[in-house]
Amino acid sequence: MTTIQNLDLAGQHVIVRADLNVPFRDGIIENDYRLQAFLPTLAYLNKHNAASVTIITHLGRPHKGIFDATLSTKQLAGWFWEHGYNVTHAATPHEALQDQASHSLTLLENIRFFAGEKDNDLAFAKTLATLGTRYINDAFGTLHRSDASVNALPQLYARANRGIGLLVEREINCLERIRTNADKPLILVLGGAKLDDKLPLINQIMTTQPATTIMIGGALALPFLKAQGLVVGTTPVTDQAVQQARNIIEGAQAHHVTLILPTDMMIIEGQLGSPAQACAVNAIPATAQCLDVGPDTISCFTRGLVGAKTIFTNGTMGMYEYAAYAHGTQAVLQAIAAVPSCYTVAGGGNATDAIATFGLASAFSYLSTGGGATLAYLGSRDPWHELPGLFALIEPSA
Ligand code: 3PG
Repeated sequence: MTTIQNLDLAGQHVIVRADLNVPFRDGIIENDYRLQAFLPTLAYLNKHNAASVTIITHLGRPHKGIFDATLSTKQLAGWFWEHGYNVTHAATPHEALQDQASHSLTLLENIRFFAGEKDNDLAFAKTLATLGTRYINDAFGTLHRSDASVNALPQLYARANRGIGLLVEREINCLERIRTNADKPLILVLGGAKLDDKLPLINQIMTTQPATTIMIGGALALPFLKAQGLVVGTTPVTDQAVQQARNIIEGAQAHHVTLILPTDMMIIEGQLGSPAQACAVNAIPATAQCLDVGPDTISCFTRGLVGAKTIFTNGTMGMYEYAAYAHGTQAVLQAIAAVPSCYTVAGGGNATDAIATFGLASAFSYLSTGGGATLAYLGSRDPWHELPGLFALIEPSA
């Protein structure tokens, strides 16, 4: 695998695909973690005298090929200036090419405003390729997408002229310590809402790393509780999710994996925002809404974490955005962060946002910049062949 360190960069025009898809509120960047994580690669390119650098990123999910001012990468330019990078914004690849003569750092408009991006269109990739003699993928969070700037574009470069950036390298090194080589005991602490997204991760870890413990909280626990015949309140839980949960419960038994589910939940019966009360999972009224895990579950998870040597967490224990329902998420994250001599990694926007909100970022070993990509990476048997952004870098050039 070619990394940025193996590329000859001096005097070259470099395209970097980054994932600067950061959250905005009222036009202000809410969390710049992905931008910060990309800076070492940018600094490296400067130091190694690239003639020009063109940054390609997406922001959000615009309708294919449609401009949307609220998702324009223009909003990122100010952040780069504040951090000492004199970036020029280019509305089109053509404009970016013209800018290269006079500006060394160009930020291309949201790549998803161009129809060819989501179509993985070869002609569009060829247009992008005119912007650089070297291609670097540092967009860890987008490696699981078959988009033109991630998949078709790198295949237009000879192996010696394309590679991964410092962030992707770091992510791979950190996540490999969980995927294949975890110090045991390994514990997964999973929450959030969608079971679908977590299935590959659960199955991969369950089948390859026996004796793992998987703790499941948040709305993710509801299909598991329902699979045991319990009433879970008003949150919709599909039959498909219940069947998936049943399969995991059976798989865990077969593979000697310990599954720890909530014993109590914080529920409300009124409006969102009203105070919640603890309720045992076998007594949840059909009219209630489960918004957090309860005190008994927190103690049970905390006890279960003792002695862990590797912990990966994704998703939250409840609606942590509401102070009234944030306690379970905060307490479980604090418990993870407090396990001594343990390699602790979090992935996914909500988990990493909650960790930052509760001031725990420095207590974790690593916070992945990926959401779906982190789950896809950890859920792969062979990430280099299964993630389109990595596969494109090992494929023979087109
Ligand atoms: C993310 O936020 O997970 C990445 O930027 C990928 O975004 P996407 O899910 O819209 O492809």
